[in-house]
Amino acid sequence: MPKLIIDDITVEVPEGTTVLEAARSVDIPIPHFCWHPALGKAGACRVCAVKMLDGPVKGIQMSCMLPAQDGMVVSTTDSEAVAMRRLVIEWLMINHPHDCPVCDEGGECQLQDYTIAGGHGIRRYNGKKRTHSNQDLGPYIEHEMNRCIQCYRCVRFYQEYAGGTDFGVMGSAGRVYFGRFNDGQLESPFSGNLVDICPTGVFTDKTARFRARYWDYDMAPSICPHCSLGCNTTPVARYRELLKTVARTNDAVSGWFLCDRGRFSNSAVNDPQRPRTPKVDGRETSRDEALETLLLRLGEVAELYGPGSIAVVGSAQLALEAAALLPLLALSVAGVLCYFSGQEDEGRTRLLHELLSSGSSASQRDVREADCIVILDCDPLQEAPMMALAVRQAWRNGARVYVVGGGIDLPCEFIPVAGLDAVPLAEAANPVIICGTAGPHAGELLSSFPPCGGGLGWGGGRHDTSMLQLHPPPNPFKPQRVLPSREGGHNNNLRLACLFPAANSFAAALLSREHGAISLEEALADGVIKGIIAVEADIPERLLEGIPFVAALDWRMTAAVQAAQVVIPTTAWVEMDGTYINHEGRAQRFKKVMNPGIPIKGLDPAGHPPHCHRTVPPGGEARPAWQVVAGIIEGLGGEQIAEPLSGQWEQLRKLDAESEGVLIHDL
Ligand code: FES
Repeated sequence: MPKLIIDDITVEVPEGTTVLEAARSVDIPIPHFCWHPALGKAGACRVCAVKMLDGPVKGIQMSCMLPAQDGMVVSTTDSEAVAMRRLVIEWLMINHPHDCPVCDEGGECQLQDYTIAGGHGIRRYNGKKRTHSNQDLGPYIEHEMNRCIQCYRCVRFYQEYAGGTDFGVMGSAGRVYFGRFNDGQLESPFSGNLVDICPTGVFTDKTARFRARYWDYDMAPSICPHCSLGCNTTPVARYRELLKTVARTNDAVSGWFLCDRGRFSNSAVNDPQRPRTPKVDGRETSRDEALETLLLRLGEVAELYGPGSIAVVGSAQLALEAAALLPLLALSVAGVLCYFSGQEDEGRTRLLHELLSSGSSASQRDVREADCIVILDCDPLQEAPMMALAVRQAWRNGARVYVVGGGIDLPCEFIPVAGLDAVPLAEAANPVIICGTAGPHAGELLSSFPPCGGGLGWGGGRHDTSMLQLHPPPNPFKPQRVLPSREGGHNNNLRLACLFPAANSFAAALLSREHGAISLEEALADGVIKGIIAVEADIPERLLEGIPFVAALDWRMTAAVQAAQVVIPTTAWVEMDGTYINHEGRAQRFKKVMNPGIPIKGLDPAGHPPHCHRTVPPGGEARPAWQVVAGIIEGLGGEQIAEPLSGQWEQLRKLDAESEGVLIHDL
């Protein structure tokens, strides 16, 4: 391990580490544009200059290009190095427009920061600035090529990292252009990362254009709710409107990036049709009255039809806090507990979930580091795009990728095979199987990943409410085990990545199994169910037909909300603290980004709410689903619940939202 001295600090780093990376490891910042932790070096910008005072290399050097070596003595503050960096900034600014006041990157721009830090303020060059035409890159990305400093990050990400082919670099001499050959929407499902990766304002988020400055933002660490991978995000809001979402780094999960679905699916939160006010029989009312009516009508249904006539229905989108309270709610109403609406959906999700343990579940990082990947019964690019990006990184590092049955698109080369038997899993050092819940082959995995068995179960009959334990015995999670390979040998490293349908599918399957829940479809089969409490549940219209009483707790305009006699609005994930358990069993915390309420932008001036004293903003009555569920339980005579995560979940209360999360198998 090379040992060197940087600014009088002795640093020892692994072989192959650059001087810039060595400096970062001891928190010595060196300016950089083209170097990026996920993309590595390009040596294009020359702003990372340092002075090598002694050792095998001397003089001014680019720290991102120089491997750390024994005996090096490096100064980042030497006057020659500082002058070099200042001159680099000055010549970059020769062509960069002075348009910070109208640039969306202003306030979060690396070039702006370094220009100010370097002290460049007077333009000494009187020539004209080089100008370019911009392209229409579609509805998501704004293009402003005049701001380009030719760091090549965009094209390195788009082509090399993400495998995109419709965007590149063209040019001659001093005119270098980063764009498409023609106007048109960027085709890569990862195109939004250009916004994060560009160190200036060439690529900015068109959906949030001219809406706010960095210092105006409401921000907090969050988790993407749009698939089961649990990619880390930072949603950005202002005035109760979710403006945009940017990637947040978590090396164990999504690394530095985010797919376009996760980045640009913000409209549901700002939807003017969102249920914002409690309703009884279609009439707006107070939360207290809605709750009272709900309790009254639940009592009527129970009295009229008897125990087991009410279904408490959660979903795989529901945060853990509310999901963990549903068994107690079902117990309180002597009802049936459901976490899934469809029987097939429940069966497949639970089957795959049972195959996962800390020794067998694969993270996105495991996939990126795999040397053999099998894709089975799923289309990662459609179901969980960041998994496809992880597969590409493994392929770039030499992994072989097999697709059982073929017929899908991937951003890398792959070998179609007829079945798992055709894949030489036993020969691989770090093989991963990626499986979805929709296909026919999941059962085949049982021989490679036998279910861990009984350790999780408190399962019971459908109406056996004694099985609905809120605080089950400790140690409910699965033990590690040795995984037999398909070939009959043993491959301890074989891992499984399951692509579940929703952000909290893992928790829904786990709770469903623990508490003997059944699907709503199954519950409805014998016609006993006469009342449904839908807690952020996507229940198809056909399952709601003929049900005398429906109550919906939700923040989206679902079929249940439309059919419900009592509606109590809940908060979206960006309006509360909560926990999701991702596809591998990793619990991750998300924090409240903004207060609930109608966005100021959404207030219709003609129909402005009456001017009156309020303690909450218009439409701001929504509460997190767990609080509404706790209120119902209390109203039914149960205990007061101040903290939803208790019993087996108690250890998650202090989970840091900015940590890598925790595998619940290891709790
Ligand atoms: Fe070293 Fe750009 S960061 S040359």
